[in-house]
Amino acid sequence: MNSIDLIALSHSFDDRNGVPALLFQQDHHALYWLGVPEDSAFRCNCYLIVDGEEGILIYPGGKTEFEFIQSSIEKVLPLTNLMGMIICQPDPDETSAIIDWLKLNPGMKIITAPRTNTKLSHYGSLDWSWHNVSEEPVFSFKSGQKLDFIPAPFLPCSETFTIFDKTSRFLFSGDLWSAIDMDWKLVVENFAAHELKLSLFHLDYFPSNLTLKGYLKQIRNLKLEAILPRHGSIIPLKNISFALEYLNRLRCGIDLIYPDLR
Ligand SMILES: [Fe+2]
Repeated sequence: MNSIDLIALSHSFDDRNGVPALLFQQDHHALYWLGVPEDSAFRCNCYLIVDGEEGILIYPGGKTEFEFIQSSIEKVLPLTNLMGMIICQPDPDETSAIIDWLKLNPGMKIITAPRTNTKLSHYGSLDWSWHNVSEEPVFSFKSGQKLDFIPAPFLPCSETFTIFDKTSRFLFSGDLWSAIDMDWKLVVENFAAHELKLSLFHLDYFPSNLTLKGYLKQIRNLKLEAILPRHGSIIPLKNISFALEYLNRLRCGIDLIYPDLR
C-alpha cells in the first residue's frame, strides 16, 4: 500500500524541476521521479527505483540531461549503488548518456532488448554487462522484489517494452500515455482535459489501433496503481480506466494515413 497520495503530492509540488519527488514508499522499496532540467513541452521523465541499497535507473536519458539526473540521484543514494539502467527503446533521448553513466559507474548493467543492445554499440563501447529482457523478462532485486518487462511491439519500435514494478504496481509505460504539454502538472487530475495533450503525441507516433489493442490485451490482468510515462504527466489510479479506454479506442498512424485499407 502506497503511503503517498500522488494527487496531493502534485498540489504541493511547487519546485517541480529541482528536486527528486518520492512517488512510492513501502518498507525498503521506493520510487522517485528525478525532475527535469528545464520547462519544456516535450519533457523527458527519468525515474529511480531504490530497493534496499540497490538502485535502478529507468531511462538513462540524453547527454544534455546527464549532469542534472546525476545530481538528482545523488540526493537519494550514492551513485556507486546504481546497479543498472533500463532502456526500453533506442531513441537518443533515452539512450545517449549511457557512456557517461558507464564511465561514472562501470558496474552498471544495461537492461534492454537485443536489437536495442546492438544499436547502443554505436555510442562507442561494447563493454557492459547486458540483461537481455527477451530471454529474462523479470529482474529480481536482492530482496526478492521484482520488475516484469512487458513487450510493447511497434510502440514505437519492434522490441519496445514497458516495466511493471510488482511491489508498487506502477507501470513505467515509455512513450505510451506520453503527452506534449507546456502547462503541465506532475500528476493528471482531469483526464478529459489531458486527452488532447496525449493525442498531440500519439496520433502520428504510434502505428495503429491494432498495436495498441495488442498491448492492452497483455496488461489486462494487471491491477495498476499508476502509469508513469516517459514524457508528460503521471496518471494516477483514479484515471487509469480512462487511460486504458483512451488507447483502446484511439485511431492513429496508418489508421489515419490509409483509412480505406483494413
Ligand atoms: Fe520517447
